[in-house]
Amino acid sequence: MECMVIQGGRRLAGEVRISGAKNAALPILASTLLGKGTCTLTNMPAVRDVVTMSKVLAHLGARVETEQDRYTVSLDAIASCEAPYDLVKTMRASVMVLGPLVARWGEAVVALPGGCAIGARPINLHLAALEKMGAEIRIEHGNVHARVRGRLKGARIYFDLQTVTGTENIMMAACLAEGTTVLENAAREPEISDLANFLSKRGARIQGAGTDVITIEGVPELRGADHEIVPDRIETGTYLVAGVITGGEVRVARCRPDHCEALLAKLREAGAELKVEKEAIQVRAGGKLKAVDVKTLPYPGFPTDMQAQMMALMAIARGSSVIAETVFESRLIHVLELQRMGADIKIEGHHAVVTGVERLGGAPVMASDLRASACLILAGLAAEGETRVSRVYHLDRGYERLDAKLTGLGAQVLREAERT
Ligand code: EPZ
Repeated sequence: MECMVIQGGRRLAGEVRISGAKNAALPILASTLLGKGTCTLTNMPAVRDVVTMSKVLAHLGARVETEQDRYTVSLDAIASCEAPYDLVKTMRASVMVLGPLVARWGEAVVALPGGCAIGARPINLHLAALEKMGAEIRIEHGNVHARVRGRLKGARIYFDLQTVTGTENIMMAACLAEGTTVLENAAREPEISDLANFLSKRGARIQGAGTDVITIEGVPELRGADHEIVPDRIETGTYLVAGVITGGEVRVARCRPDHCEALLAKLREAGAELKVEKEAIQVRAGGKLKAVDVKTLPYPGFPTDMQAQMMALMAIARGSSVIAETVFESRLIHVLELQRMGADIKIEGHHAVVTGVERLGGAPVMASDLRASACLILAGLAAEGETRVSRVYHLDRGYERLDAKLTGLGAQVLREAERT
């Protein structure tokens, strides 16, 4: 396994270019199962989860050709309707092939994804919605078996919780259902709108993506289309925090500032100076940061995927901040590692009270999930001395060449084999 070795204390400066959004690329790849034509996807991020989803599609019979950030996907006939556990266990987003498979081929066998470091991650809302559309669902030996005689039927579906991949899974299934489907209390993330834009180019009839009511009128089949993946708003936020936490000045280019409003508001409240352009954001620390409270919420609220990164920043801000994680039940694991670096943080239920310290100290720490890895690297950039973040395979799931991009901004970051 590899670790990331960071020499802290260097101010970052320069420009970093944002890659395509992992959480848009994954459902969009899964949605290629919905039709025969060839789909050409550009601005695809070079991250491991996208490779894993490509493997799942290939296992199902798709032809996937890649050339740098361009993916060409086509699927004339399915070879299998089963997404095996050995692939699903490495990436729970594989569950998003469920809706398209049942909608187009009438059956699917997808391994139950199981939990992960940040929570139980159930998919009960995905399954209940498919049942409402006429699918028979049974769970056997850790697999979801779903099948429908004929086509899925349009239905009115109310999601008890705003679920991002649940909304995406059912929106995809509804594209080929008989009749109209209305999703209420749908998630509103920009990646859902990007998926809807791609599906509409292919002939799907979708209204309301990006709001909490999405209406889909089923059509017989979808054709191929070309699409450029929307920039990654979480990668954007991660580099903005990198600029601020090091007291530097960073320009984040090829991003969507309009998808980052909640984070930008919090950075401004903390005293960061921001200059927002159409597709770029310039940030500088603007003196000692002030502690601010953060509460994660479904979009357009403060993103849970930026909670750990913001906590690293608050660990060296002036004053105390309360960081409440309301989306996942155990997404505070990074607190224990930040404490190893001298952070003053107390966990009280689902929130953490962070009291800023003058300086963090570099230390060997362990990543537990994708965004916790980013948090520890950000803390290492600001800390005194050397920080070794182990298990960086978590990082490679969702950040394209993070070490190279940080080095390009003047950071001293090295990737090396873990000491046994
Ligand atoms: C998506 O996960 C993202 N992943 C996550 O990003 C992100 O943290 C999350 O949305 C929240 O924004 C992808 O898009 C691939 P949810 P998802 O369903 O869809 C509960 C990252 O770092 N729930 O919106 O799995 C669930 O337990 C990853 O890039 C049910 O109870 O999240 C959670 O508490 C991490 N039953 C809440 O809803 C269900 O059937 C929101 O989960 C579905 C969800």
